[in-house]
Amino acid sequence: MPRIPLALIPYALAIALTAGGYLWHLADHAGGAVRSEGVVRIGGPFALTGQDGKTVRDTDFRGRYMLIYFGYTMCPDVCPTELAVMAEALAKLGPVARRVVPIFITIDPERDTPALLKSYLKVFGPGFVGLTGTQAEIRTAADAYQVRFKTYPLEGGGYGMDHSSVIYLMGPDGRFVSVYTEGSNPDDIADDLKARP
Ligand code: NI
Repeated sequence: MPRIPLALIPYALAIALTAGGYLWHLADHAGGAVRSEGVVRIGGPFALTGQDGKTVRDTDFRGRYMLIYFGYTMCPDVCPTELAVMAEALAKLGPVARRVVPIFITIDPERDTPALLKSYLKVFGPGFVGLTGTQAEIRTAADAYQVRFKTYPLEGGGYGMDHSSVIYLMGPDGRFVSVYTEGSNPDDIADDLKARP
């Protein structure tokens, strides 16, 4: 369990309170390293809606690394934990952090509006880019990253979502570089990023 910054304590409490609600996240890490004939088929172009309502494309971030995580804001446990890991890793980068843009793509566009993404991500730091879109746009982006997700009904109404939990590292050219699997340590991620040209 990574250490959680002070600002995230409300989320940590939420995690504790909802632990009984048990959300099963697909252990889909193998999907991060699928290769075909020597070519890694992860990622691709996307055009989604940013947290300010404007179109955001993958090409907007050329020249910087992208750390991409797919999840949803109502996730009780794994998403806030992994976002906290990303935030903590970036905090450890110092000036190098300018070369890395953290991106959260919702798999729950029905509920995750740009405004909700904006307020949610603010907790993790100023640099996070939140992306939503139509169901079809999100499905296309998730497929490109081999992210799987599905809804399941919650007791008492509403729904939760099972989903892959992988942090993708895409290079300054937009191509797949690596993944950090669930439970990765912020120090390790920061060291890995610092070592990259
Ligand atoms: Ni989640």
